[in-house]
Amino acid sequence: MSNNVRPESMERITTPELAEAFITEQTRLLKERIGDKQVLLALSGGVDSSVVAALLIRAVGRQLVCVHVNHGLLRKGEPEQVIRVFRDEMNANLIYVDAVDRFLDKLAGVSDPETKRKIIGAEFIRVFEEEARKLDGIAFLAQGTIYPDILESGPVKAHHNVGGLPDDLRFELVEPLKFLFKDEVRVVGKALGLPDSMTYRQPFPGPGLGVRCLGAITRDRLEALREADAILREEFAAAGLAGKVWQYFAIVPDIKSTGVKDGKRTFDWPVILRAVNTRDAMTATVEELPWPLLRKLTARITSEVAGVNRVLYDLTPKPSGTIEWE
Ligand code: XMP
Repeated sequence: MSNNVRPESMERITTPELAEAFITEQTRLLKERIGDKQVLLALSGGVDSSVVAALLIRAVGRQLVCVHVNHGLLRKGEPEQVIRVFRDEMNANLIYVDAVDRFLDKLAGVSDPETKRKIIGAEFIRVFEEEARKLDGIAFLAQGTIYPDILESGPVKAHHNVGGLPDDLRFELVEPLKFLFKDEVRVVGKALGLPDSMTYRQPFPGPGLGVRCLGAITRDRLEALREADAILREEFAAAGLAGKVWQYFAIVPDIKSTGVKDGKRTFDWPVILRAVNTRDAMTATVEELPWPLLRKLTARITSEVAGVNRVLYDLTPKPSGTIEWE
C-alpha cells in the first residue's frame, strides 16, 4: 500500500526543532481533517498512545476523547500519572474507567498464558466498546501506530492485544505517528511537553503485570508483584540504569518456599528479577548487575513486600528463555 510507505523526502526527526516542525505540520493536517468532529483514543499511558494524545490535544483540544482503562495489571502509579499529566496538566477530555474488578474476576482461576492474554485482550475491547457506545458524535478513532508496526519488524507488537471494534463502531482511523520510528516518537513527545518518565520508558506488554504474575492471578500476589516492580524501578533509576537497560521487571511465580523472618518461620513467594538488553527483542542478553545493587534489591523487597521471602535473579538469555515468563 503506497500510503503506508514513509515518504523518502521525510527527514529523520532527531532534534527539538525538527519535532516542532512535525508538530506544526501535523496539527494543521489534523485540524483540517477532523474539523469540528470528535476523535476517540484508547490511552494506555504507553509512549505511542501518550504522544498521539498530546498531539491531538494540541490540534483539536477537547474534541479528543481519551479513554484510559485501568485493568488492574498496570504498574504502580501508572493510572495516577495518566490522570495527572493528561487531565490535570493538559486539560484533556479523559474518561477514566476503573475496570480492575471486572478483569480480575474474569481472570480468576485461569492459569494458561495464552488464555490469560486472550481474556485480557477481549475484555479490553469490550470495555472500550461500552465506553464508545456511550458517546455521541465520534467520527474518528486515533491509534498510536508507528512505522515498525507497519513494517512488522520485531515481535513486540506481534501479539498486540487491541483487536477490532464491531462493524458499527468502525470509525475512520487517525494515525499521525505511522511514519515515525520509536526514537522520533520520543523526540516529538518531549517537544509536546510529556515527561521523560512517559516518553523514555521501557517497553511494557499490553497484558501488563498479567504475564508476570504467573499462573492464575490472585490479588495478593499481584500486589506483591506491583510493589516489587516499583522497588526495582526506583533502584534502577537511583543507580542510573533506568535509561540504559532495555527492559527490567519483576515476576512472581505461583510457588512458596520456607523462610524465616523476625525469628519466625515463613512460607512465602519468591520474587524473580529480570533485566535484559536487546536490539529487536528476538534475542536478548542479561544485564550484569552490580552485586551491591542485587543485595540492596533483595534486602528491600524481602523487608518491604508482604508475602515475599526470597529474591532471585534470572541469568537466562533469549534464547533459551523468552524475555517474559509467560
Ligand atoms: P518475549 O517474552 O516474547 O518478549 O521474548 C519480546 C518482547 O515483547 C513483549 N511482549 C508483549 N508485548 N503484548 C505486548 O504488547 C504481549 O502479549 C507481549 N508478550 C511479550 C515483551 O515485553 C518483550 O519486550
